Amino acid sequence: GRMGIALASEARDLGAEVELILARHSVEPPAGVTLRSVRTVEEMRAAVEEGMPRAEMLIMAAAVSDFVPSSVAEEKIKRGEAGLTLRLEPAPDILAEAAKTRRPGQILVGFALETSRGEERARAKIEAKGIDAIVLNDPALALDRAENEVIVFTAGGDRWELPRAPKSEIARGILGRLSACLE
Ligand code: CTP
Repeated sequence: GRMGIALASEARDLGAEVELILARHSVEPPAGVTLRSVRTVEEMRAAVEEGMPRAEMLIMAAAVSDFVPSSVAEEKIKRGEAGLTLRLEPAPDILAEAAKTRRPGQILVGFALETSRGEERARAKIEAKGIDAIVLNDPALALDRAENEVIVFTAGGDRWELPRAPKSEIARGILGRLSACLE
């Protein structure tokens, strides 16, 4: 939530026309951007699919979920005597799907959150998802904190470290470097 909101507000300040697809969030979304509220993976998927044709850049700072329930009960599940095991299956990868529909010149950027082998795993996601760059978060800071510390990797092999700073500053650093790349 916070990182996506920081990116939206900094992109707006740089003069971009911003559409912010927003699920659960803990800070107020910025003014001056078009807001699309979503609740589920499917709603986020539909919003991204709908927005892709007019986007110059898609930055996915988060997704609603990595897993979705395998089935949804039609009626209330009775408590009964036994425990309950919920079956989950992998959610569709919205960013990888978007990459499959991209047109030339569109820039796609992902974020990665890893608890081990961060650099290697983040880099691997560039190719696996077919995107242009990935931002590796610091797992201790990424979630619901005001600051972040990231490393940006690009498909071209660049690596930029952005040291610990408020998320707004991190967002500015990411956007500045990406737009320099674009030019
Ligand atoms: N992402 C997505 N759709 C999902 C889950 C993740 O588009 N259902 C996007 C995230 O927005 C992020 C990138 O994919 O930009 C990487 O997310 P992450 O959770 O780090 O990795 P996963 O692709 O889910 O892979 P893994 O679970 O193996 O780390």
